[in-house]
Amino acid sequence: MRPREIRPGVSWVGAVDWDRRLFDSLIPLEQGTSYNSYLVEGTEKTALLDTVDPSKTGTLLQALENVGKVDFVVAHHAEQDHSGSLPVVLARYPEATVLCSPKAVELLSAHLHIPEERMRAVEDGEVLELGGKTLRFVHTPWVHWPETMSSFLEEDRVLFSCDLFGSHLATSDLFAAEDEVFTLAKRYYAEIMMPLRAAVHKNVDKVAALSPVVVAPSHGPLYSRPEFIIDAYRSWVDGPSRNLVVLPYVTMHGSTLALVEHFAGALIERGVKVERFDLTGVDLGRLAASLVDAATLVLATPTVLTNPHPLAASALYLVNALRPPLKFMSLLVSYGWATNAVETAKTLTGALKAEMIPPVIVKGLPTEKDLLLVTELAAAIAARHEDLGAAL
Ligand code: FEO
Repeated sequence: MRPREIRPGVSWVGAVDWDRRLFDSLIPLEQGTSYNSYLVEGTEKTALLDTVDPSKTGTLLQALENVGKVDFVVAHHAEQDHSGSLPVVLARYPEATVLCSPKAVELLSAHLHIPEERMRAVEDGEVLELGGKTLRFVHTPWVHWPETMSSFLEEDRVLFSCDLFGSHLATSDLFAAEDEVFTLAKRYYAEIMMPLRAAVHKNVDKVAALSPVVVAPSHGPLYSRPEFIIDAYRSWVDGPSRNLVVLPYVTMHGSTLALVEHFAGALIERGVKVERFDLTGVDLGRLAASLVDAATLVLATPTVLTNPHPLAASALYLVNALRPPLKFMSLLVSYGWATNAVETAKTLTGALKAEMIPPVIVKGLPTEKDLLLVTELAAAIAARHEDLGAAL
């Protein structure tokens, strides 16, 4: 692929990974991804902003075929999907210096063995003059790792935000089709940013204050209307809870499924939206995205040797790690002969601040009396949502 011009002297030189289906050996990629690298050419100096995943080094080198000299490689983030091609790029451009945050010096050294003499730490707010192109470095820690930074091209008002505002979307569009990217950007936020939303909030304010006219993240398409993605982030970080119950479940012999069916019906009758996830074939990215603004999580599980089914335990572990802003949670449990499921679930979700509404625990197949308790749980949730003013 040839460089694609964003503005005169500013080009996209990244790689679209149409076929990647899994990230971090965990997160499904519905529509592939991209690793965005950018070239900024001043009258005197040239800077390459980020590299690409090592699986796509050849694509980056092809895009740089006619670039004889790179003076600086700006490494916004040490994670390998952006820094993994650095060793090859530094070998190709022996005159290039890596510019990164002070913390990134340590991480690039640890993860990629980049020699310290090839790196120079830059301060928050420091500027780099390339000749008619001025890059201002903006430290934006914890979007995604502690060393993460962004940079702002002052003359063209382009914000290079790295993981912040990204989406896992392989597309031939350089700029985002907003209706296409919204769901994928929300999903990406849920997977990467949601656990870090206090830092994300601060950094969104910090970069929005620069008034960019283009946002150029390191995954997915660019934004020609920055307010679209900035407003979306603000709504995800600070927005109101939705009148929504996220209902992941697993069933072995149908007893838990009977609880789920009755519960979902009772919620719907009360005007509460339900998103169900069968954990035997769940897309974890969709589950994560549903947690961004849901008021309540209810997990339904049978027991395996008295504890939650391993798929349910794994889902709880992940939810706990993602730290969604849930207000309420509960459980539907069907057990065989004895159960510690509720105690184990509480241990697995210690980081969540949600109020635990008393779970429904049933021995075997639910009776009419058990189903009445399930109805009462649905009614209690609907009432709490109403008190909260949760919106659909
Ligand atoms: Fe896209 Fe945190 O790397």
